[in-house]
Amino acid sequence: MAPFVAALASEVGEGDAALDLACGTGYLTFAAAERAGASGRVVGVDVNQAMLDVAARRLVPPTTLVRAPADAMPFADAEFDVVVCQQGLQFFPDLCAALTEIGRVLCPGGRLAATSWAPRDRSPYHEAQGQAARAADPGHTDGSAPPAAFALTKQRFLQAATAAGLVHLAAEEITADVVLPALPAFAAAHLTALPFGAEIASRAPDTISVIAQAITDSLSAYQTPEGFKVPFVSNLLTARKPS
Ligand SMILES: C[S@@+](CC[C@H](N)C(=O)[O-])C[C@H]1O[C@@H](n2cnc3c(N)ncnc32)[C@H](O)[C@@H]1O
Repeated sequence: MAPFVAALASEVGEGDAALDLACGTGYLTFAAAERAGASGRVVGVDVNQAMLDVAARRLVPPTTLVRAPADAMPFADAEFDVVVCQQGLQFFPDLCAALTEIGRVLCPGGRLAATSWAPRDRSPYHEAQGQAARAADPGHTDGSAPPAAFALTKQRFLQAATAAGLVHLAAEEITADVVLPALPAFAAAHLTALPFGAEIASRAPDTISVIAQAITDSLSAYQTPEGFKVPFVSNLLTARKPS
C-alpha cells in the first residue's frame, strides 16, 4: 500500500484539517498527520470498530478516531480542508450519499482524493489470487460478479461525484511496482485476511496453501533478484467542493 498511501498523503498540506475516511487500521491516517504537522488536525473515520481498535494502538494526539458511516458523519459543515480515502469508496452502500456527505464536511474549495482498485485483471497479483481461488475452490463466493474491491469504475465515480455537486473531477490510473513479501507465505496470510479467504479458511483450511502456491507459480514471470515485483493499478479519484 505504501505508494498509494504516499500519493494520497501528498494531498494533505501543513496546517490542514484532514479527514481520512474509511481509515481502517490507520496507515494513511498517520501519514496524513505527519503531513498536517503540529498546526494541523487529522481525524480517521471508519464504520468498523475492530479496525479502529487496531488504529488506536498507534494513535498520537491530536489525531482522533471516530466510528461513523461515510454517509452520516458527526462533523460540522465545512469542517475539513481535505478528505482522503484509500480503498473505501467502492464499499460504501450509497456512493452518492457518501460523496454528498463528503461535500458537506469540506470547506468551500476543499479537496477529495481517493483510491480504488482498477479492474482486477489490470493487477497480476489480484488476478492470480482470483483465478487460483476459483480453480481450487469453485464454490466460493468470489466467482462471478466483480468483487466489491474492484467494482468501482471511473465512470461511476464521475457520475456519483457530479450528482453530489462536486467539481474539478478527475480519474486517472496510477501504477506502483511493488516487491511482495516472501511468497507463498504472504499470499496465504493476505488471503486469510480477506473476507472471502477467511470463509475458505474456515470451511476448507487446507485449500489456503494450495491457492497460495498457485498464486506463486502463476507470478513466476515477475520474479526478480529482489523478490516478486508486481505492478498494482489503482484509480486515483479527485474532486473539489465548489468555492
Ligand atoms: C479495504 S479497507 C481500507 C482501509 C484503509 N483505508 C487502508 O487503506 O488500509 C476498507 C475500509 O472501509 C471501511 N468501510 C466500509 N464501508 C464503510 C462505510 N459505509 N463507512 C465507513 N467506512 C466503511 C471498512 O470498515 C474498511 O476499514
